[in-house]
Amino acid sequence: MRIDILTLHPELLKSPFEHSILKRAQEKNILEIHLHNVRDYAQGKHKNADDYAFGGGAGMVMMIEPIDLCISKLKLEREYDEIIFLCPDGKLLNQNMANTLSLKKNLIVLCGHYKGIDERVREYLISAEISIGNYVLSGGEPAAVVLVDTIARLIPGVLNDETSALSDSFQDDLISPPVYTRPAEYKTWKVPEILLSGHEKKIDEWKLEKSIERTKKRRPNLGEKL
Ligand code: ADE
Repeated sequence: MRIDILTLHPELLKSPFEHSILKRAQEKNILEIHLHNVRDYAQGKHKNADDYAFGGGAGMVMMIEPIDLCISKLKLEREYDEIIFLCPDGKLLNQNMANTLSLKKNLIVLCGHYKGIDERVREYLISAEISIGNYVLSGGEPAAVVLVDTIARLIPGVLNDETSALSDSFQDDLISPPVYTRPAEYKTWKVPEILLSGHEKKIDEWKLEKSIERTKKRRPNLGEKL
């Protein structure tokens, strides 16, 4: 999968993609991430990528032209499955959306700016709008990290043990069961006996029971189907 990220602050996005799972995915050539500075596409004497809002209002608004030029250049090079704009009023990201997006080949992700973007970008240039939650970030960059991470870990071959993405919370509408590691007893706090028993079938039953219990308690809406 190839993901092109358009931003006014590429420096905010460099490090998150250079470590751990996302780094390995790129090394294995399963994932390509390309950062584009929208400002590089700005025209005119001052190379502005944002400007004052028509009709007044506080703050600068991202201009359509540099974004259009950048997207058009990329679209000449390859076909994109989705051009996603990250914004607080987009469709709320969930595991289902991540699953669907993880099957795509080429994505463009456009990071917004805290005071907004020329509405014509949303109207004419993009195909989807995604929010990572009902709160406002200063820009779309942290949301881009969240989105790319959620998608990338689902691409086959990215995680060493493929089943570990399948057993994530929210796959199957279930929250993951609790996990423990050594020591089996810390202070007086003990790991549940069953996990030390070596009885695989019973352990699986216990895990499912805990998953259902947790889902009903913490995410009752997911649990409705149980
Ligand atoms: N940009 C600002 N806030 C955002 C949010 N909650 N989700 C996605 N992009 C955003």
